[in-house]
Amino acid sequence: MSKITAAITAVGAYVPEDVLTNKMLEEMVDTNDEWITSRTGIKERRILKDPKKGTSYLAIQAAKEILRKTNLDPEEIDLIIMATATPDMPVASTGVHVATQIGATNAFSYDLQAACSGFLYGMSTASAYIESGRYKKVIVIGADKMSSIIDYTDRTTCIIFGDGAGAVLMEPNTEGLGLQDEILRSDSIGRASLKIEAGGSLTPPTEETVAKKLHFVRQDGKTVFKFAVSNMAGVSEKIMKRNDLTNEDVNWLVAHQANKRIIDATANRMGLNDENKVLMNIQRYGNTTSATLPLLLSDYEKNFKKGDNLIFASFGGGFTWGAAYLKWAYNS
Ligand SMILES: CC(C)(COP(=O)(O)OP(=O)(O)OC[C@H]1O[C@@H](n2cnc3c(N)ncnc32)[C@H](O)[C@@H]1OP(=O)(O)O)[C@@H](O)C(=O)NCCC(=O)NCCS
Repeated sequence: MSKITAAITAVGAYVPEDVLTNKMLEEMVDTNDEWITSRTGIKERRILKDPKKGTSYLAIQAAKEILRKTNLDPEEIDLIIMATATPDMPVASTGVHVATQIGATNAFSYDLQAACSGFLYGMSTASAYIESGRYKKVIVIGADKMSSIIDYTDRTTCIIFGDGAGAVLMEPNTEGLGLQDEILRSDSIGRASLKIEAGGSLTPPTEETVAKKLHFVRQDGKTVFKFAVSNMAGVSEKIMKRNDLTNEDVNWLVAHQANKRIIDATANRMGLNDENKVLMNIQRYGNTTSATLPLLLSDYEKNFKKGDNLIFASFGGGFTWGAAYLKWAYNS
């Protein structure tokens, strides 16, 4: 019997309609379009303005796109892995709600929190289930309503993040396509550099934590930048070497959209001198945390050909980071 690999067989995505441009941010904080563009590559982001809608809303739209595109009966789905740093609520699981809302009544679901690496870790988990033969149809969703945890008076964070969702369907493949290899890492050296300090078990919410704005994301941008460049580029280079891939062999770099300079540094380290191979949509969406990788897949799906070599790379709070080598499984 041929070996079972886990392949991506469909992609879906959703971003809210409301746009927050650099010009609009100029009215809100002491910043300017030139600074944001040159330091990050971001021009605008999408914001889910409806206060009654949380991350599950974004995720449901992305998952429904998969159902529409594939005509998949949701009752056939075995598992939904919901990568998010902004669940609808700390308890109950957002993924469970998403599964029920899309009619995946025979599936189980749970949330996975690994900040910006959540989707990559989720793909790994889904692949392990599929390779083992245990489950056959797994949806991995990356979705975040970052606007719910951003302080829009803090210019060091509010210019970076946006809201969005992306999803993939993963299924068994016997042609050798799909996930080939991965390197996943984490290190709590980053715990102090990028965090929401309160609201968890260590510092539960109080009037004081609210007054001190401890429920918003805070980061030491310089430190995060330094670790992001060296770690994301490091594992991306390593996964190429380990699989004997040259820069010619790599068709696409699917890198976490945190900062254009971080993505460029990773591409450089991999020797990818053809910029068309480096997927980029940070200018339109900013950093959507768990959603950046599947949003890239959705935007560029039509460019991928069966057998193409994709390198995924991510870096996020925690710190968490990793790279994965995947062979694309279909022509669209
Ligand atoms: C946040 C980030 C864009 C800042 O860029 P930087 O080049 O490191 O800039 P610095 O933080 O050194 O700030 C440089 C100056 O710009 C100022 N500045 C910071 N934010 C600004 C803004 N939005 N507009 C204008 N000026 C700003 C700083 O106050 C500082 O001024 P000073 O020199 O007078 O003190 C960059 O560090 C970064 O992208 N880090 C990684 C963040 C990230 O990816 N987080 C998510 C992880 S997945």
